[in-house]
Amino acid sequence: MIKINENYLKLQASYLFSEIRKRTDEFQEANPDRDIIKLGIGDVTRSLPKACIEAFHRGVDEMANDATFRGYGPEQGYGFLREKIAKADFQDRGADISADEVFISDGAKCDTGNIQEIFSTDIKVAIPDPVYPVYLDTNVMAGRTGSFIDGRYPGIIYLESTRKNGFIPDPPKENIDLIYLCFPNNPTGVTITKSQLKNWVDFARENKALILYDAAYEAFIQDDDLPKSIYEVEGAREVAIEFRSFSKTAGFTGTRCAFTVVPKSCVAYTGKGKTYPVHDLWLRRQSTKFNAVSYPVQRAAEAVYSEGGNAQVHALIQYYLKNAALIRKEIESIGYACMGGENSPYIWIDGKTDSWGFFDLLLKKAGVVTTPGAGFGKCGEGYIRISAFNNYENVQEALQRIRQSLSQ
Ligand code: MLT
Repeated sequence: MIKINENYLKLQASYLFSEIRKRTDEFQEANPDRDIIKLGIGDVTRSLPKACIEAFHRGVDEMANDATFRGYGPEQGYGFLREKIAKADFQDRGADISADEVFISDGAKCDTGNIQEIFSTDIKVAIPDPVYPVYLDTNVMAGRTGSFIDGRYPGIIYLESTRKNGFIPDPPKENIDLIYLCFPNNPTGVTITKSQLKNWVDFARENKALILYDAAYEAFIQDDDLPKSIYEVEGAREVAIEFRSFSKTAGFTGTRCAFTVVPKSCVAYTGKGKTYPVHDLWLRRQSTKFNAVSYPVQRAAEAVYSEGGNAQVHALIQYYLKNAALIRKEIESIGYACMGGENSPYIWIDGKTDSWGFFDLLLKKAGVVTTPGAGFGKCGEGYIRISAFNNYENVQEALQRIRQSLSQ
């Protein structure tokens, strides 16, 4: 008899963004004439930067010629891309990361979801609340939790991020082995200072724990004092893995390219307490289960680091940040308290009512799709998240409709 992994039965009926898509599609089907503006899932709408497209084309042309054709690439990604990342994203900012510590992948979603499988199933895992659902769901699938009760999974230590702590949790008193952090934060849009991040690095070092640092939105950081990478904090190389993505930085959500940094000095422990390099485990995992990102896509990503690419990416980020600033200003002027939207593409809004109710109201009355905060965890109840990823004109129109709907 073939048996299922019953841990899957503990999961909520559907993935948050699938549920939003379902509700939106149903509404559109019932109201075919309504023009719906999507500010829900953080999916970019602007085309790839010109430098990336040109490099992409050149890569495709190389594949059309026997002399330049490439088959399987290195599992860790091509050196030409890893070298650029190590220099521009880390070494130039004073973070000691080398190219052989960078693993190119097809998304931060996949990597943040897959990474937990290299750790034991009986570790203590701390996950923020609210949180990007992938961290939690993948630990549920792996059997690290009990059944869902009252909005929580027993076995997980929830790091509550609320108005009280400025949506940035402090390290807890208890012992933890694996910690998920994401800054600029998805969904709240808040950023962390270097000294707050240092508290976490110190905690991880004292507890022989490991931090999984999701920095997929670092390109939106405009404030020079804020850390873009956890490796800007002293001591992080031994206790942190960092996830980055070209999706939101350069519009690669449909093209797929991201990377994960696993320093060679980063360690975990065997049951008997012997140290083991995490880099070796991740390399082993990736070379068995993953066959790299396509060559033209890696060439397109490399172009992000060219002079033209750099300027074009900067313009792209500024475009979305202008949307974010407008959303925050307008929503606050209607009388709702907001977080984020400054060094982040997300605005976290206190809806003063239940999240899904507010989501439905905005969908039905304004024809605007948002993301209900409750979908990110118990502490997200009462909030909605608005994404700045859309065209400026659509954002203006959406805000006008929201204002009208809420004043009716
Ligand atoms: C989000 O909207 O939270 C993200 O776009 C989802 C993702 O990147 O997978």
